[in-house]
Amino acid sequence: MVRDTLSPALITRNLKTRFIGQKVIYYPRLASTMDLARQEARQGAAEGTVIITGEQTAGKGRLKRLWLSPRGSIALSIILYPDMSYLPYLVMLASLAVVHSIESVAALKAQIKWPNDVLIDGKKICGILIESDVRANMVAYAIIGIGINVNFRLSDFPEILSTATSLADELGADVSRVDIIRCLLVETERLYSALPHGEPVYREWRDRLVTLGRKVQVKSGEAMLEGIAESVARDGSLLLRHASGSSTKIVAGDVSLFDFE
Ligand code: BTN
Repeated sequence: MVRDTLSPALITRNLKTRFIGQKVIYYPRLASTMDLARQEARQGAAEGTVIITGEQTAGKGRLKRLWLSPRGSIALSIILYPDMSYLPYLVMLASLAVVHSIESVAALKAQIKWPNDVLIDGKKICGILIESDVRANMVAYAIIGIGINVNFRLSDFPEILSTATSLADELGADVSRVDIIRCLLVETERLYSALPHGEPVYREWRDRLVTLGRKVQVKSGEAMLEGIAESVARDGSLLLRHASGSSTKIVAGDVSLFDFE
């Protein structure tokens, strides 16, 4: 039986980072960590400040969707002040940090679905939300929001049972959320600090995508597009090749994968 107490002291004790997670603001329950992170960032919180909660009552997902984070979840937001040129890499490094942490703490193989869903065996285990405030080509702040399904059973949430999974479901046992968070903070800082040499982060993210080479359907705004996911660019956009031979560059959207016969 894993002890699964979330506390800032356990998270920060001897944490091997310079700035990410050196300040943790923890609440057992919040509406959304994004709201508090935004408030803190606007008040000039130190770079790397992390807002963590074990349960959200109004979690925010991409494309204005709700994100379910019941008790047993990891929900956190990291405040950063990156250079403008680093913004496109935040989704890449965050999804890689999650994949590395799941592999190292839970010994499970994880994949990334463009742009930043983390999957285990095709089911979503983690969602990532990036929010930034850019003024006159300067980043006022950026927030990486990460939600991981950890110690709850999807059978209690029939609305997402067919598309999502949790670490506890995959392993048949609970996992230490503190261990995952600590690893995630270390990995995030390592990858963020590597951004001046951004190429390796882009390349590893690209190589880890389950999306490339697959037949996909993409919902982008009101449009529903189909084709082969051909490549991704360094700005994070996806190039979709249609049956007609033409292509579309997609900056934001929701991908459904079709298996080849
Ligand atoms: C998605 O896949 O739609 C993104 C989900 C992002 C959820 C995380 S949980 C921590 C942070 N706080 C929120 O309200 N949302 C993000």
